[in-house]
Amino acid sequence: MRRQSKPNAMIGPIGIFDSGYGGLTILREIRKRLPEYDYLYLGDNARAPYGSRSFDVIYDFTLQAVKYLFNRGCSLVILACNTASAKALRTIQQRDLPKIDPSRRVLGVIIPTVEALGGLTQTNHIGVVGTPGTVASRSYTIETAKLYPEIKVTEVACPMWVPLIENGEAFGPGADYFVEKYCRQLMGCDPEIDTLLLGCTHYPLLTEKIRKVIPENVAIIPQGRLVADSLADYLKRHPEIAERCTREGSTKFLTTENTEKFDRIAPLFLNHPVAAERIHLD
Ligand code: DGL
Repeated sequence: MRRQSKPNAMIGPIGIFDSGYGGLTILREIRKRLPEYDYLYLGDNARAPYGSRSFDVIYDFTLQAVKYLFNRGCSLVILACNTASAKALRTIQQRDLPKIDPSRRVLGVIIPTVEALGGLTQTNHIGVVGTPGTVASRSYTIETAKLYPEIKVTEVACPMWVPLIENGEAFGPGADYFVEKYCRQLMGCDPEIDTLLLGCTHYPLLTEKIRKVIPENVAIIPQGRLVADSLADYLKRHPEIAERCTREGSTKFLTTENTEKFDRIAPLFLNHPVAAERIHLD
């Protein structure tokens, strides 16, 4: 008999959520890996950055975004934001989803990233840079210890990096000072680090500047490809979710801020023009 979706199952694009533009680095890699699917990207740019906000606020904002994407037909939402993954994902999965719709899924970026860490380091010393919220949660240290107890993780918060990127200053000379400051701090904490994980989806935009100040032998690892590979694997293992994701190869962009600004800055992450729709979250 032909396999059919449940009659009331919601069919729609895969939702990708971030506080702002950073999730576009994840979207870019996911689309390369899984170009056949439809995507609905939501950036809460009006309220970014999330990184220095409290647990309660990040959770409230993230839940609003997830509900909004569900209402637009998404059965699967990826929190393409480490801060939201660290602070809100577990509560949404365990407390909210069973009430809203247990058949839908919300996934984050931290676990898929940590799962891939094992093969990356020779010295077993990894550095993680992230927002104050992600670093305060110690999620990378805690999750890595569960899978790879032999790896020492050093996390450093970079509170100025997301504001610089959200304001279009990632490539300007003003960013140099803060890139050097946090990289030095990290390498000062553990000079044996040979792998630097960019634990914030905004940070790949700073790769060139980071490369200039971090020792040559340290590999810089963005998480986009790791998350994309993990999602491809997830969809293979969960055909009941995959069949609820439409496949026409389209992407739509939503922002809570002015669309002119989004349409100007998003191409820096994607290398193609976009035309976003403005929405309101509450
Ligand atoms: N891209 C988000 C992350 O990965 C940035 C967070 C922020 O808005 O501060 O953590």
